[in-house]
Amino acid sequence: MKVALYCTVTLIILLLHTSHGYRTVIVGAGLSGYSAAARLLERGVNDILVLEAENRIGGRVHTVPFHNGRIDMGAQWVHGQQNNIIYEMVGAHFPFGDSAWENAADMFLLSDGTARNQTQIAQLAHLAEGIMAVVYDPSYTGSFGSFFEYHYWNALNNEPYRAIPRSLATKVQHFYHTYTNNFFGSKSWFDISIEIYANAGYTLGSQWVTWRDSGFSTVFEFLSKRRPFPQQALDVESKILVNKEVTNINWDGAVITLRCADNSQYLADYVIFTGSLGVLKHRHNTLFTPTLPARKTSAIQYSDYGSLEKIFLEFSAPFWDQSYNFAEFSILWTERDIAELTGTSREWLIHIGYFRRIDAFPTLLGVFFIGARIPDFNAFDQNKIINDCHWLLSRAYTPNVPRPINAIRSNWITLRNFMGAYSLFTPTSAYYGATPSRLAEPVNGSNGRPRIFFAGEHTSQLFSGYANGAVETGYRAAAEVLSAVV
Ligand SMILES: Cc1cc2nc3c(=O)[nH]c(=O)nc-3n(C[C@H](O)[C@H](O)[C@H](O)COP(=O)(O)OP(=O)(O)OC[C@H]3O[C@@H](n4cnc5c(N)ncnc54)[C@H](O)[C@@H]3O)c2cc1C
Ligand SMILES: *[C@@H]1O[C@H](CO)[C@@H](O)[C@H](O)[C@H]1NC(C)=O
Ligand SMILES: *[C@@H]1O[C@H](CO)[C@@H](O)[C@H](O)[C@H]1NC(C)=O
Repeated sequence: MKVALYCTVTLIILLLHTSHGYRTVIVGAGLSGYSAAARLLERGVNDILVLEAENRIGGRVHTVPFHNGRIDMGAQWVHGQQNNIIYEMVGAHFPFGDSAWENAADMFLLSDGTARNQTQIAQLAHLAEGIMAVVYDPSYTGSFGSFFEYHYWNALNNEPYRAIPRSLATKVQHFYHTYTNNFFGSKSWFDISIEIYANAGYTLGSQWVTWRDSGFSTVFEFLSKRRPFPQQALDVESKILVNKEVTNINWDGAVITLRCADNSQYLADYVIFTGSLGVLKHRHNTLFTPTLPARKTSAIQYSDYGSLEKIFLEFSAPFWDQSYNFAEFSILWTERDIAELTGTSREWLIHIGYFRRIDAFPTLLGVFFIGARIPDFNAFDQNKIINDCHWLLSRAYTPNVPRPINAIRSNWITLRNFMGAYSLFTPTSAYYGATPSRLAEPVNGSNGRPRIFFAGEHTSQLFSGYANGAVETGYRAAAEVLSAVV
């Protein structure tokens, strides 16, 4: 009896010595994990720990110094002012910028620099934008692309569009296809489910609110309440360990054991997993022991995960007409240019839809595109990116475009802890149960009680893909933990 007790005590001491017990361990210190930690601390739950694989906090919010300010390689805009939890938390206390160009004119350039009838281009753009505005009709199922193409080409058979050459209409459609992919992170607009997005939430007000030159990472000061209420500040940072990649979560024993790549171990009663859908897709099999139930793995498998990448180009001075209020140089690719570039080292350029002006940075242009379509992008050096972008701008705009003096680019698709940009739901996703709400469901242990909770943008029923969605899921998961604790 004494011996047994002694052994148990030793075992407990050993366990305490080699592992650390915490009630709730949060995997990931991006927006959702950070928000969950902040909410738990706010509710007085102190025995929490956040394990973050990267050497920094923030996840897909990644603000970096560039030029003479701070720019965002990940989330950049606050999309909406009402019904957006970030705007609602921050707006009264921070001088947000309005995107100067939200309602700006279009500046369409033919990729080969030739002129086309600008009146007709404007008519087509107006038609396209009208279709994009009604695409979220909940009575329609299918893909964004099929909805768009059906209404676009139908309209073109009627006045006032009949005089417009089909080849011009094709170029404009191609532009909107690229534009849409860049918004959703999709490889094709036939991969975007209308149904899921029609049933998603919507925000009101400006859709392109900016953090001026301070960057999206400013949001963490508000999530921790350091701003604007320093006396109520929550010390979230003290709960976060960085460089801690969780490699396995053994979740069906008396306690949950999390093992990290550096062989350290942590114990928990509850886990909130916030790694991206890309991470789940690639590694859910090894991350969880036992493996997750089929209900969850099927949702992981049949949802999609996009791959948006960014390039920022810096010029010594703006080379464009300062008096013309335009948001972006939109490229209308000619069939001939597409054919000629295909198979060459410049082929990647045809995935560029636009060069976008960046608020608060008058000498920068941003280029966004779908990384999955450019498999060798990872290998491009800065010089190649600058040369190729310069070649295209000089060809499409004017031969006098100066060479960019600097460039910076993202590479989300190759980063092990992200594997891409954000979640995406296809027309067949819902059929297989792949919805944000299914991805959000907790997983129960064999005692029938929830053990693992899921947060992250992909689990946001109303705002999947968005920063505000990620924050909401962190708060939701914190509430779930609070109600699970007995
Ligand atoms: C290029 C780009 C542009 C965007 N633009 C906008 C925008 O303008 N507006 C907007 O609202 N949203 C935008 N978004 C979306 C927004 O950034 C995300 O929705 C949000 O940041 C996701 O937060 P999260 O907490 O869900 O995930 P993440 O930020 O990915 O956080 C998860 C964390 O978990 C960590 N992790 C992963 N695996 C492990 C592991 N095994 N062990 C430990 N830690 C792990 C990761 O390192 C990461 O820090 C953009 C995203 C990208 C990529
Ligand atoms: C441009 O298109 C408009 C509308 O179709 C047409 O009225 C006009 O004549 C065209 N201009 C030229 C120069 O072709
Ligand atoms: C998990 O348990 C909760 C209550 O303990 C229950 O409501 C839920 O339906 C269970 N989930 C599954 C997938 O069985």
